[in-house]
Amino acid sequence: MQAILSIDTSCDETSVAVTKGRKVISHIEYSQILLHKKWGGVVPSLARWAHKEKIGMVIEESLRRAARYGVGWDDISAVAVTCGPGLAIALEVGIEWAKKLAREKRKKLIAVNHLEGHLYSVFAQNSQGKPERESKFPYLGLIVSGGHTELVIFKKDLEYEIIGSTLDDAVGEALDKAAKMLGLGYPGGPVIERLAKEINNLDLYKFPRPMWKNQSLNFSFSGLKTSFLYFLRNLSEKEKMNKINYLASSFQEAAFDSILKKVKQAFKIYSLNRIVVGGGVSANMRLRLKLRKLAREISGEVIFPPYKYLCQDNAAMIGVVADLYYRRRWFVKDFSILERVPRAKIDKRYY
Ligand code: KG4
Ligand code: ZN
Repeated sequence: MQAILSIDTSCDETSVAVTKGRKVISHIEYSQILLHKKWGGVVPSLARWAHKEKIGMVIEESLRRAARYGVGWDDISAVAVTCGPGLAIALEVGIEWAKKLAREKRKKLIAVNHLEGHLYSVFAQNSQGKPERESKFPYLGLIVSGGHTELVIFKKDLEYEIIGSTLDDAVGEALDKAAKMLGLGYPGGPVIERLAKEINNLDLYKFPRPMWKNQSLNFSFSGLKTSFLYFLRNLSEKEKMNKINYLASSFQEAAFDSILKKVKQAFKIYSLNRIVVGGGVSANMRLRLKLRKLAREISGEVIFPPYKYLCQDNAAMIGVVADLYYRRRWFVKDFSILERVPRAKIDKRYY
């Protein structure tokens, strides 16, 4: 079976993987979190600079690891790269390198949608082919990350229909902003999760659940963010510190309950009972618990990425999708036309 080398530079991780089918042979990433931390979020120009600095090394290291499993350029048939969605000037770095490698090594070039990657991350396997998980289409697909909150019908391989999106902030972004208001670091999701867990996820303040009465399957988090901000304004710094666990937990409950509500609605409308969930926020144990409980109630199934690194941005998930493209011979025919698509939609083919 052919191996594929994949690159993802869509946001703040410089990530390269070598995969064979769904098996991840090697995966290396250089995280820029420390670089962006002091700015409280990802700074695009810094991200681009760091991708440029590190990508050569990350590719080399990924190939070195793959060589330990006996996989080298001779086995690699294609270079795959994320073409979008993501930060335009960051995406460009990966695309430039993918073109260069494909040209130099005379390989096929494949352009993958980052959001497809997040959905397929649940089917990625380790180098031993674990877990085995077979797909049972159709699924609902939920992507919850720093840049996206999307609900789709995952009809069959590489076929999706968008049924709900966020109208403003993504859920990860909302968690990051709430954390910032509380004076916690970036990224905010994991800190909020930890603070909430310390008090058993108590929902003391019962902030309004966004889009609760709305019939649509869209999400919105800016109202919640604003009510949180106004609530904090009425607290002294001391009160804020004393109540920080309760504030974090109540915010998290409101955000996740609104996601659960839409998922529940979607299950009903589309008569489905299985869901795959990907993206950075899918690492959150509280969200996982809520989704598992819902799945149990409808005798359904919820599937998360099998390893934690697969929740956040990574090139391994790009490789899993690229293998399916390869089988359909969906290659970029003319390298010169491949460009970044910062606002790429999951249900549209650009290349
Ligand atoms: O998928 P990802 O790495 O990048 C994007 O494509 O955006 O997601 C990053 C987001 C950040 O907003 C971060 O706060 C959130 O995922 N995140 C979490 C957790 N780990 C990362 N949110 C909640 N709980 C977590 N454990
Ligand atoms: Zn992502």
